[in-house]
Amino acid sequence: MDARELVRSVKVLGTARGWRRVRAAWRRQRADATALPRRGRERARVPGHAQGAEERPGGGVVRFARSSLRVRVSVGGVVFCGWDGAEPEPSYALDRGCPGADPRAVLEPDKDGGWRVVSERVTVAVSRHGAVEIRTPGGLVLRRDLPPRWWDPVDGADAGPRWVQRSEVAADARFFGLGGRAAGPRLRGGSYRLWNTDPKAGFEPGDDPLYLCMPVLMVVADAGTHLVFHDNSWDGRVRLTEGEEGRGSGHDRRGGCELRMDGGPLRSWTVVGTPARVLRGWASLTGAPAVPPRWALGHHHARWGFGSSEEVRRIAAGYKQRGLPLSALHLDIDHLDGHRVFTVDTARFPDLPELAEELREDGVRLVSIVDPAVKAEPGNSVYDSGTAADAFVRDARGREVRGEVWPGESVYPDFTDPRVRKWWGGLYAERLAQGFSGMWHDMNEPVSFAAFGDPTLPRSARHALEGRGGDHREAHNVYALAMGRAGYEGLAELRPEERPFLFSRSGWAGMQRYGGSWSGDVASSWPGLRASLALVLGLGLSGVPYSGPDVGGFTGSPSPELYVRWFQLGAWLPLFRTHSANFAGRREPWEFGPEALEHARAALAGRERLLPYFVTLAYVAHRTGAPYVRPVWWSSPEDRALRDCEDAFLLGEGLLVAPVLEPGVTRRTVRLPRGLWYDTASGAAYRGPGQVTVDAPLSRIPVLARAGAVLPVTGEDGGVELEVWTPVAGRRGSGLVAAGTGDGWERGRLERFTSRMVDGRVVVERDGGGEPGYGVRVRGDAG
Ligand code: GLC
Repeated sequence: MDARELVRSVKVLGTARGWRRVRAAWRRQRADATALPRRGRERARVPGHAQGAEERPGGGVVRFARSSLRVRVSVGGVVFCGWDGAEPEPSYALDRGCPGADPRAVLEPDKDGGWRVVSERVTVAVSRHGAVEIRTPGGLVLRRDLPPRWWDPVDGADAGPRWVQRSEVAADARFFGLGGRAAGPRLRGGSYRLWNTDPKAGFEPGDDPLYLCMPVLMVVADAGTHLVFHDNSWDGRVRLTEGEEGRGSGHDRRGGCELRMDGGPLRSWTVVGTPARVLRGWASLTGAPAVPPRWALGHHHARWGFGSSEEVRRIAAGYKQRGLPLSALHLDIDHLDGHRVFTVDTARFPDLPELAEELREDGVRLVSIVDPAVKAEPGNSVYDSGTAADAFVRDARGREVRGEVWPGESVYPDFTDPRVRKWWGGLYAERLAQGFSGMWHDMNEPVSFAAFGDPTLPRSARHALEGRGGDHREAHNVYALAMGRAGYEGLAELRPEERPFLFSRSGWAGMQRYGGSWSGDVASSWPGLRASLALVLGLGLSGVPYSGPDVGGFTGSPSPELYVRWFQLGAWLPLFRTHSANFAGRREPWEFGPEALEHARAALAGRERLLPYFVTLAYVAHRTGAPYVRPVWWSSPEDRALRDCEDAFLLGEGLLVAPVLEPGVTRRTVRLPRGLWYDTASGAAYRGPGQVTVDAPLSRIPVLARAGAVLPVTGEDGGVELEVWTPVAGRRGSGLVAAGTGDGWERGRLERFTSRMVDGRVVVERDGGGEPGYGVRVRGDAG
């Protein structure tokens, strides 16, 4: 405990809750002190010299004096590297196990006693000391992993060695991803921790780590884009160094990435190609992103502390009377009985199923918070049934691990046990009976409030880990992922006619199979606004396409200007939700004065109009892994100025959104990718690549449409119509439209439309021939 922590703990001692937090922290520390073997003497090890190699499917095994390396290229060109006998499985990230090996990949001796695996899409060269290069078929080096170094416990007391691996990338490379990071989207040089953590409420760009860390890094350089995933859920750190170019002097400093892990296997997956190809490969490895139901793509409103059914009705009526569209209201922990999960405070919410029904008739769904911690109290039926099912995490001596969360002293389901997932999944029947349509998984890092130290479970806590057995050091980062699986599978079984809707604060690689995420407790400040865009972009590039911030920020009271700017950004993000803490100001659009209300109204109307486009993007994400919200370099990663642009994004293929992220701004510069772009408000046409300055009055943020884009929007009659932005003469434009979709399991179709100029007229055709079948509205004049 350092001095700051001591002061903090003395401060909280004044309250009963404070005492419990001190006790929880103390217990956690004591559990680990007695049960976790101290790291004793260690011996450093490197692979040593290559001694030979054997062919295996997709590549082979290279034997070194003190280790071995399995290289395996799979059918899609994805490369697996596993040291020290590490295999692709078991893995929490992989969706359907290890993909098939590429039968055409061959292992060959390389120069200087090394080996290489050659395949159609990628070459993997292993030096005789164990450095591994990932090269394009043309021979460009995308990445060079230096020989790893392990520290083996000499006394054999611990689970295994710690290790470090350094890698080099091109001097011009930029880094993205690592899950949800406040400091992005471009990850500068520095250290990023891999340990899901509840930061202090009101985090800003300097805070790291946050709730959702993933060892998934996207590296974008002139030579090409690649994604690397270290399939290891232990605590670790990634240290990034951005390279520097010597401007022709020949003295480039390469970019670097150092991964240091406390334990677990040294194994990685690398995918190379364009950004789109890389994320397609990632989705085929770790699973297709779940498609949210249509209503989840509208506007959501939440607050910690609505407090009663009447208040919920008042808010819904407030939206309705003002003609503001609303898709969902979220009930936070204050609607529960004493904060106990899967209960209702019937004094303040006496009629939840009726309330849900009433709201539903007005097109508003109810979403429920679900925290994993269960109040440890006989008589609490969830605790009793969990105890009977032996569902809760135990310590090394076999006792239930107790933590401190909203309901007080609590226990934690072990979601890494299939039996426990099944039990937990069944509990959502109570939520469905109360009328809830979707679930909001929170506090699943998992959190145990602590006056000092790490606010989570002891590292020595035991977990089933699918029958393999292990402790919290390995299970911590996958806890929320496994909770997501439990909830998703439970809901799919309980309500088979509808796709589950859930989103989760914490998670790990592969969580997109079950749902999306949100920012967590972002500060109500301009830096908080910037962080919320960074999170959505970074999560999308880590394979989680559906997310959004607490619009207005979680803490404090945003100024009307900040609220409006946040609302305008949120309206273009997949999860569009206003939310705040019980100790923060309100977030209803009418709470910020008449001017703010009108601007929020315009943003809401824009979102409604764009719903068919969002539905389409949800299906595109499901089919291809491409996020709805993409960095501006998505289709031109070779454009270095775009790689450094962090204040705008592409929404699908057709739109470029340039939010206002600073106060007092009414005009802003926008960096455009190649092609012709229309300012959707003024109709002015601009030619990229390059930078332009456009109006950004408080009433709206700049949104540009790509010439030729075909966008499905809501027409005046409520049906879908195609908004087509005049293509450049002689060039084709295009767009996709999801059709035949509903909220069940129907697969839907993605229809492609093309646009072109014929005799000075815009012609729109459906791929495969035929009339569009939708009304067409042409906009923009290419001049
Ligand atoms: C956490 C969540 C926040 C929620 C609060 C109370 O801080 O991040 O969204 O309102 O808990 O449940």
